[in-house]
Amino acid sequence: MTVLTEGIAPHGGQLINRIATAAEKAEFLALAEKLPRVSLDERSLSDLVMIAIGGFSPLKGFMEQDDYEKVVDDMRLINGLPWAIPVTLSVSEEVADPLKEGNWIRLDDSAGNFVGVLELTQKYRYNKAHEAVNVYRTDDQKHPGVKVLYEQGEINLAGPIWLLQRDPHPQFPKYQIDPLQSRKMFHEKAWKTIVGFQTRNPIHRAHEYIQKCALEVVDGLFLHPLVGATKSDDVPADVRMRCYEIMMDKYFPQDRVILAINPSAMRYAGPREAIFHAIIRKNYGCTHFIVGRDHAGVGDYYGTYDAQYIFDEFEPGELGIVPMKFEHAFYCTRTSGMATTKTSPSLPEERIHLSGTKVRELLRKGELPPPEFSRPEVAAELIRAMRES
Ligand code: ADX
Repeated sequence: MTVLTEGIAPHGGQLINRIATAAEKAEFLALAEKLPRVSLDERSLSDLVMIAIGGFSPLKGFMEQDDYEKVVDDMRLINGLPWAIPVTLSVSEEVADPLKEGNWIRLDDSAGNFVGVLELTQKYRYNKAHEAVNVYRTDDQKHPGVKVLYEQGEINLAGPIWLLQRDPHPQFPKYQIDPLQSRKMFHEKAWKTIVGFQTRNPIHRAHEYIQKCALEVVDGLFLHPLVGATKSDDVPADVRMRCYEIMMDKYFPQDRVILAINPSAMRYAGPREAIFHAIIRKNYGCTHFIVGRDHAGVGDYYGTYDAQYIFDEFEPGELGIVPMKFEHAFYCTRTSGMATTKTSPSLPEERIHLSGTKVRELLRKGELPPPEFSRPEVAAELIRAMRES
């Protein structure tokens, strides 16, 4: 089912809705004990949800082989639409063997709850090394995205899906705003231009600076922290969300900013993921998307601005969302404010910017990062969370 929406066109033209209707749900429940079962891990479960709510429009299910290969090789679906990250359901041969193409498969969460249905149209093998090198630009298994790829099953199960029902998010029900709803909110606020912000880290002043620079030129800011699976040393989503709540209370104009969760999983694919992140935000109704330094990067696998350069590989307008590119931002002691080298003539020693590792080190010792790096209330929250963990 597709739905008519307000604002800019979703990717591919129509917002996908694969949440089962009451009649479909009743039909699936009646078959619940008879269907073959596949258990979803955290990432696949969030992919199922993202497809169902339209966040991955125009995808209606897990990718078939021709789409998968075209995405890996050319960053496009076979219909020609840009798409940068494979969305696949990978299982072991043992799980795949008894499943027949044409079957309906019952999808369970890790606790064994029936959460969705896959109409299995195809099972296929795929080349992990090829996917790793093309999508992640490395086959080093120390890379967290590549590690997940090498640990997953050898067979991809493909076909359209249904989500049995859309449950409120267990941790952040108030911030669960799906694409249909965000589009409606933007329309009601009469925002014509909206900038989306992706993040997986606690908010610091460089984030705030680029968010506010963007907000100077568009109507609204859609703060969209990712709360799906992240690597184990990333700060947990509940702590990051508390930091955002603190910022919303004190430092943001509430009528021009919406805070909502992005339920999808992090891939750490740097440049390719920046395209993926932009398309997701387009589906939520954003017209612009912030891409700063080393977007979705990890370690030193990607150049500082590779995630910006990749946007040039598409024709202007082809993605249907405008990247707003920002240089590495820092606090400048010469001009006493946040800046980048585009706006400040400072020498390197006049710039305050801390690495994530350095911040974690300070917090572990119970020391507040300097106010030039982090708002004190946010730093205090991070220390509190670290002491409790
Ligand atoms: S990400 O993996 O979600 O990209 P993070 O939450 O750190 O990580 O970054 C969110 C966004 O802010 C990304 O677009 C990133 O490029 C940008 N960003 C983070 N720190 C800076 C900085 N100091 N200067 C400019 N952009 C930054």
